[in-house]
Amino acid sequence: PAFTDYQAESATISQGLVESNHAGYTGTGFVNYDNVTGSYVQFTVSVTAAGNYPLTLRYANGTTIDRPMDITVNGSPAAPGLSFAGTGAWPTWADKTLTASLTAGTNTIRATATTANGGPNLDRLRVTAPSDSQPPTA
Ligand code: GCU
Repeated sequence: PAFTDYQAESATISQGLVESNHAGYTGTGFVNYDNVTGSYVQFTVSVTAAGNYPLTLRYANGTTIDRPMDITVNGSPAAPGLSFAGTGAWPTWADKTLTASLTAGTNTIRATATTANGGPNLDRLRVTAPSDSQPPTA
C-alpha cells in the first residue's frame, strides 16, 4: 500500500486520554495529551524494507500557542521540537510531516510534548511508502 495509518487512540499513551468530543477525527477518537511536559503517544510501526519514510501526524491545536513535540524513532531523535502550531479551532485538523529512517521490521515512533501545555490533540500517524521503494515502471 502507498500508506498505512496508525490511530492515536490505539497507540501506547502516557499521560493522555482518548476523547471524541471534537469532530473531524478519523477512527474512533483522538488523544488529548495531558497538559504537562513529557506526555507522549507511542506508535509501533512495521515496515518490510528499511528506508526514509514520510511520517505524517494529524493533529489539532485550538490555541494560538505552539505545542512542540520531540519525535523519536527507536529512541533516537528524528525531529526534536517539531512545531504543532495552532490550527484555529479544536475541530480543525492539520497534517505535519517529517521524514525519518525506519529499519525493516518493528519501529517505535514516539511524540513527546516538550512544554507544560502538553501536545496537541493527536488523531493519527500516517506512514507513507518511500518513493524510491516503488517498483520501476520501465
Ligand atoms: C480543551 C480541549 C481539549 C484540549 C485541551 C488542551 O480542553 O477541549 O480537547 O486537549 O483544551 O488545551 O489541551
